[in-house]
Amino acid sequence: MPSAISVQDLTKRYGNVVALNNVSFEVEKGEIFGFLGPNGAGKSTTVRILTGLIKPDGGKAFVMGYDILKNPLRQSSIWEWFQRFQTLMWILQLGKT
Ligand SMILES: Nc1ncnc2c1ncn2[C@@H]1O[C@H](COP(=O)(O)OP(=O)(O)OP(=O)(O)O)[C@@H](O)[C@H]1O
Ligand SMILES: [Mg+2]
Repeated sequence: MPSAISVQDLTKRYGNVVALNNVSFEVEKGEIFGFLGPNGAGKSTTVRILTGLIKPDGGKAFVMGYDILKNPLRQSSIWEWFQRFQTLMWILQLGKT
């Protein structure tokens, strides 16, 4: 059974700024995963990659076993589910500011 989310050695640079430096983590199905970090740690960048808004410079990312870098999530059947996740992230962001 694939992990809900699998992130492997994700790297993202914005010019000289290294936003993600070989980030890896697994979220199993049904797991409550706390995605915490200080300002600028790269949380939003990671979520933007997982939702297909931006491309990483390196690494791999799978959602429900689905390679989202090869096949954008919005073409898959789990896109609707993922949009809800994205809305939840926005609500959390709004709550933070
Ligand atoms: N569009 C961008 N252009 C240039 N640098 C960026 C851009 N977006 C993010 N960064 C930089 O990438 C790094 C990671 O930022 P990111 O927004 O992913 O962190 P975060 O963990 O979501 O932070 P916060 O808790 O403040 O929301 C930071 O150094 C940030 O300044
Ligand atoms: Mg953020």
